[in-house]
Amino acid sequence: MSERVREGHRGTGPGAITPDGCAVELYERLPVGDEPDVIARAVPARARVLELGSGVGRMTHPLIERGFTVTAVDESPRMLERVRGARTVCGPIEELELDERFDVVLLASFLIHTGDLRVRGRLLRACRQHVADDGCVLIQRESEDRHENLPQERKITGGIVRVVSSEPVRPGVRSVHVEYLFPDARWTQTFLSRPLTADAFEAALAEAGLAVDAYLTEDRTWVRALPVPGRSPAAPG
Ligand SMILES: C[S@@+](CC[C@H](N)C(=O)[O-])C[C@H]1O[C@@H](n2cnc3c(N)ncnc32)[C@H](O)[C@@H]1O
Repeated sequence: MSERVREGHRGTGPGAITPDGCAVELYERLPVGDEPDVIARAVPARARVLELGSGVGRMTHPLIERGFTVTAVDESPRMLERVRGARTVCGPIEELELDERFDVVLLASFLIHTGDLRVRGRLLRACRQHVADDGCVLIQRESEDRHENLPQERKITGGIVRVVSSEPVRPGVRSVHVEYLFPDARWTQTFLSRPLTADAFEAALAEAGLAVDAYLTEDRTWVRALPVPGRSPAAPG
């Protein structure tokens, strides 16, 4: 069963598909990488984390095991029902209005690369609005070569991920097609991505009242940003 879809996004394969084309059953099997360690090194121990776009909890669960308290947000109820040990909030990040602030706000999985500029502004606004004055926002951005030399494939436990293509669809926006192949199942996801140079990325953050504090990994895909004092997020556009 599929939920409503976001423009330019679609997914195929067994089980429920989220509005952005992710397959719930696929994310249940995808192994987590080093993301929880990158996060744990960058923030205070036992911090209160607001995780935006948590999916089934692939990162949530290791973070909880490391002693963090997590509030997991996702617009897919089918994803969220698999999350254990975290408070869950179901709805679009763009519309999030929690009456509290967190030590850490996490915007991973390249969500910042949404093709829709208005959505991007609202995602960053949600980050700024929900981070404590002395807290931080951790963002995962695409690597510089993400859209080059395709197709590319890599092995994961039990299967293969193949980034098949990335085609321009309108100025600044690409349509990316990815396949996930397992002996017993095949999923695909097509989604829109707006690549961002480091300058464009930092400018988008600045508009939302956030400033880069550190690039956390050698490939510069993980970033810690801090709220700029006195710069509240503008009203949603
Ligand atoms: C690629 S999956 C990654 C999930 C998780 N971060 C992980 O690494 O396993 C993206 C998730 O974000 C959710 N999502 C994407 N855009 C969203 C939005 N604007 N508001 C709420 N949830 C969103 C999707 O429903 C999906 O569960």
